[in-house]
Amino acid sequence: MTETNYAKGLEGVIAAESEVCQIDGLSGKLYYRGYSIEELAQHSSFEETTYLLLYEALPSKAKLEEFTARCRRCRDLPPAIQDMIRHFPSAGSPMELLQSVISYLSSTVEHKIQHSATCNCRQTLHQISQIPTVLATYQRFKEGKAYLESRPDLSPGANFLYLLRGQEPPVEEGRIFDACLLLHAEHGFNASTFTARVVASTYSTCYCSISAAIGALAGFLHGGANERVMNMVDEIGSKENIEPWLDKALSEHRKVMGMGHRVYKAKDPRATVMERFLEELSEKIGDHKLCEFLKQLEKSFGDHMGKKGKPVYPNVDFFSGAVYTILGIPRYLFTPIFAAARSAGWLAHILEQRKDNRIFRPKALFTGPDPRPYVPIENRTSNTDSSVTENNA
Ligand SMILES: CC(C)(COP(=O)(O)OP(=O)(O)OC[C@H]1O[C@@H](n2cnc3c(N)ncnc32)[C@H](O)[C@@H]1OP(=O)(O)O)[C@@H](O)C(=O)NCCC(=O)NCCS
Repeated sequence: MTETNYAKGLEGVIAAESEVCQIDGLSGKLYYRGYSIEELAQHSSFEETTYLLLYEALPSKAKLEEFTARCRRCRDLPPAIQDMIRHFPSAGSPMELLQSVISYLSSTVEHKIQHSATCNCRQTLHQISQIPTVLATYQRFKEGKAYLESRPDLSPGANFLYLLRGQEPPVEEGRIFDACLLLHAEHGFNASTFTARVVASTYSTCYCSISAAIGALAGFLHGGANERVMNMVDEIGSKENIEPWLDKALSEHRKVMGMGHRVYKAKDPRATVMERFLEELSEKIGDHKLCEFLKQLEKSFGDHMGKKGKPVYPNVDFFSGAVYTILGIPRYLFTPIFAAARSAGWLAHILEQRKDNRIFRPKALFTGPDPRPYVPIENRTSNTDSSVTENNA
C-alpha cells in the first residue's frame, strides 16, 4: 500500500458496483433504478418504490397489491415488543430502541439460509415494515396513550400519522408524509448503506446489517441535520435576525444546517420536492411563517456564499424538518424516521451485495511503531507508557 492510493474515509474510492441509485451531483439529479426522484415523488408511493428498489422493476398492479398486503399484514407489534418499548430506559434514544427491536425480531425468525449467497431479505421486509409502528408506539407510550393497531387501508405514511395522532390524517398529509419516506428511501453509498453492505458481505443476517446501519445513521455527521435546522430556526428567532445571525455565524466559520452536500453541487432535488410540500402544507394550515423564514434564510445564505464565489445550496434536510414539524412529528423522531425510510434502500443494497458477494477487506496504511521487543512490566519506564488513557482508549 502506498500513500498515493490512500483515500481517507474512502472518499472517491469505488468499492462495489451498484444498479440501485444514481446521483448526478453536478446537475442535482437523483434516480432510483433509472426513475427520477421527482417523478417517483409525484406518481409513486413508498411501498411501490420499495418494491422497485428490492425487485429491480416497477410492479404490475397485481404484484403491487400482493406486496402491499404482505407488508401491511405485519405492521402490528407482538405484545413482547410493545413491552420492550414500554420498558425501554427513558434515557435511551429511539435509535437505540430501533436497534434493540431489530435484534429482538431477528431472534424470532429462523435464519436457515444465511450462509449462502441468497438470503431471506425480502421476507425480512415484513418485519422492517414494523419500524414506523415502533416509532409511533414509542411516542404514544411517552404520551401515556395506549397501543393502537395499524389500519391496513392506509399507506405507510398515512398509517404512521394515524398511529401518532390517534385519528386518520387528511388525505393530503398522508400522501405528503408517504412521499417524504420515498424521498429518503435510498441514496447510494453513504456511510449507513456502506455499513449495511459490509455486514451483509460476511453473510451475517439482514437484521444485523440493518441494526448496524441504524447505528451508523445515529451519528450526527450522518443523520440529524433536519433536527438541527429546526434548532437553528429557533436560535435565529425572527426573519429580521437572519442577516445579523448569518454575518456572525459565517464569520465564526459555523456551518448553516441543511445547506451543502458532499455529493450535490447544485440544489438537492429532494429539497426542491420538500420545499413544494412545505408550501402545500403551509397553504393548508394558513400559516406561511416557517416557510417564508426558510426561503429568506436560503436566499440570504445564497447571497453570502455567492459573494464569496462558493455557491452552496439546500439539501433535503433544509425543508424536511419544517414539513415534519407542521405534521406534528417531534424532533427526536426525525432521524428514526429517516431510518424507517432508508431500510428499503439498505435492503436493496444487502440483496445486491449478496448477488455477487466478496467480503470487504480493505487495508490500512500502517503508521505505527517498527517491530520492537516486549518489555517486562518491571522494566517499563514512563517512556514506554501508553499516551492513551483508559478514558479515551
Ligand atoms: C455537508 C457538508 C459537510 C459538505 O461540506 P463540503 O464537502 O466541505 O462542502 P463544499 O466543498 O461544497 O464546501 C465549499 C465551501 O462552502 C462552505 N460550506 C459548505 N457548506 C456550508 C454550510 N452549510 N454553511 C456554511 N458554509 C458551508 C465550506 O466550508 C467550503 O468553504 P471553504 O472552501 O472556505 O472551506 C457541509 O455542507 C455541511 O456541514 N453542511 C451542514 C450540515 C448538513 O446540512 N448536513 C446534511 C447533509 S445531507
